Amino acid sequence: MIYSLKLGNPFETEAVTDHSEINSCEMSEFIERLGSLGGELIMAHTSTGDERPDIMFRYRMNNDTVVFGLGEALHGINKRGFKYISYNVDDMHHDEEKNSLYGSHNFILIKGTEDDFGLFFDYPSRMEFDIGFENRSLIKVTAPTMDMCIYLITGANLYNIVKQFRGIIGKSYTAPFWAFGFGQSRWGYKNASDVSEVVNSYRSAGIPLDMVYMDIDYMDDYKDFTISYERFPKFGRFVLDMEEQGIHLVPIIDAGIKIENDYEIYEEGKSNGYFCTNDDASLFSAAVWPGMTHFVDFFKPEAREWFGKKYSALTDYGIEGFWNDMNEPSIFYTQQDLENTCELISDLSLSDKEISAKDCLEIRDSVDAWRSPEVYKQFYHNINGKRVSHDKVHNLYGYYMTKAAYEGLSELIPDKRFLLFARSSYIGMHRYGGLWTGDNKSRWSHLKLNLSQLPGLNMCGFIYSGADIGGFGADVSEELLLRWTALGIFTPLFRNHSVKDSRNQECYRFENTEAFRDIISLRYRLLPYLYSEFLKAVNSDLMYFRPLCFDYEDDNDALYVEDQLLLGEGLMIAPVIEENANGRYVYLPEDMLFIKFKTDTEFTTELMPKGHHYIHVAIDQVPLFLRRGNMLPLGGSHVCTADMSMYLELGGKGELQAKDFEIITLPSEKPSYEMLCESEKTLVSNKIFVE
Ligand code: GLC
Repeated sequence: MIYSLKLGNPFETEAVTDHSEINSCEMSEFIERLGSLGGELIMAHTSTGDERPDIMFRYRMNNDTVVFGLGEALHGINKRGFKYISYNVDDMHHDEEKNSLYGSHNFILIKGTEDDFGLFFDYPSRMEFDIGFENRSLIKVTAPTMDMCIYLITGANLYNIVKQFRGIIGKSYTAPFWAFGFGQSRWGYKNASDVSEVVNSYRSAGIPLDMVYMDIDYMDDYKDFTISYERFPKFGRFVLDMEEQGIHLVPIIDAGIKIENDYEIYEEGKSNGYFCTNDDASLFSAAVWPGMTHFVDFFKPEAREWFGKKYSALTDYGIEGFWNDMNEPSIFYTQQDLENTCELISDLSLSDKEISAKDCLEIRDSVDAWRSPEVYKQFYHNINGKRVSHDKVHNLYGYYMTKAAYEGLSELIPDKRFLLFARSSYIGMHRYGGLWTGDNKSRWSHLKLNLSQLPGLNMCGFIYSGADIGGFGADVSEELLLRWTALGIFTPLFRNHSVKDSRNQECYRFENTEAFRDIISLRYRLLPYLYSEFLKAVNSDLMYFRPLCFDYEDDNDALYVEDQLLLGEGLMIAPVIEENANGRYVYLPEDMLFIKFKTDTEFTTELMPKGHHYIHVAIDQVPLFLRRGNMLPLGGSHVCTADMSMYLELGGKGELQAKDFEIITLPSEKPSYEMLCESEKTLVSNKIFVE
């Protein structure tokens, strides 16, 4: 059951789309229902000085309580023990003590002693989730104003609660089949020949590749919807050449619009009033990659429509995939910030006294202040004719940019699926695109973080998601990249991306190219199954990745497993995430078939009993577990999805059969499998039987 409570005057975020099954409650009924589950809702006048009260949800945990959710938030799958702040931020240091990342996903799922329940706090500004941080046994969820909708979801078990939640927030974005191929990215590919070199090197190493991402250097002076023809001459021919080699180019689009006379986007945005404003109605400016920019007011439907259509600058060339970036929005500094710091330096240099260490620290603090979230209180949106401070709707900005892109692309490319994902997000954006988890680093702890983030994201509707494989910042080792790639082959978004000036991390640059070839080729063999499970997750509000306890409800050991995930109907993944390991411990909640891939075509299988085991997994191997009553149909090895039309054609006619695959099952089992495919956006089911 789903109950909702509307408090004050909440902003309509459009996160919840289906209200038909929701029982909207008066305050007393809602409080009573929460109370019966052990939760309290408290309104308290505290520090804000505002007339209205703070709102606080409180829940006392016992030793066994486990809390899931919060989307891409840091820390483990179990969120207990830390304080999370929903306030989207561009911060590339994803350290353990950080409270916020690029997305705010305010859904928590409490596995209590009595009944389990879920809560969604639909509130687009800053709020805090203290999940046993200040006090290990207390959950405290607080927001400074009471203008919010709260949804309480009860159900038979954790998975049922998530399915109900997914049901009310609307169907997740469907990525095309080709977007499940492998993508190579790097902030540093400067021109067409850099991109061609990447493609040629992958092809000659025999490592599959479907996409090359184009970071900001493809643009003319970092201006959205422009192409530097100096660096990409004959761009149309280049896109076609790539397509002939089975490569999709995927350009980046940033949120800030460069202020430059005669730049079409700037001129049109300015004259039509599509940009965010200052207090005095002048246009708000701040610096990002292009220097001073304006920010599109994505809350205005006409600005969204205008911006969305601008993607035609690239779709006209045949581009069908995009990543939206810097859309928290990321702000490097304002003119005022710059002037404050310059003034400080000039005062110091003009004074007669020697510059002390304290003065230098003051300069550093002044530069650090440039990235302060206070800037979000300085500009405004025009929402239905009303001026609204950005701060009040901050977490929705990236979501509305992606909505603009989705709506534009749906008109520009009406007959096909397109690839779209973004960095900043809020629940609701999952209907318009996927997400990547931003600027992680080449650290073993970030490989683990990648795994931990996946189920939380799925709970909140973000199925097409993934991290920068190998890590964006810092230098990756071959071992870390191999292990990370061996996890990445299971994530819907499978992209290796890195920052310029870090070690080049394209797979062909390492000594053991064979191992990369085998691991990535395995992804392509798994693709028909993975895409089918993705379609099921999207179309039936399922989770592609789940914590073990979602299916093995009464298994207390399964509840605490933090480094294994269930994938779709039949698989369990258990990647190696430790340095210098020759394998890992795994927990099997039932008997399973352990499949160890030595190459993409060579593998061993071993039936393993329920319980704790140590498995040996060399750095070029991939472990995988098949659950009872399931099959794993492996397709052929291919270097790009363009070569896999057979699956799409036969699948699209519902004619895929067991003979089209190499099928792995548990000994003496003859399961069947419903494989889903898509043909021109129509879902087609293929029943596959083992004779
Ligand atoms: C941001 C993005 C990163 C990109 C860089 C340059 O840091 O998160 O992926 O490479 O900007 O565009």
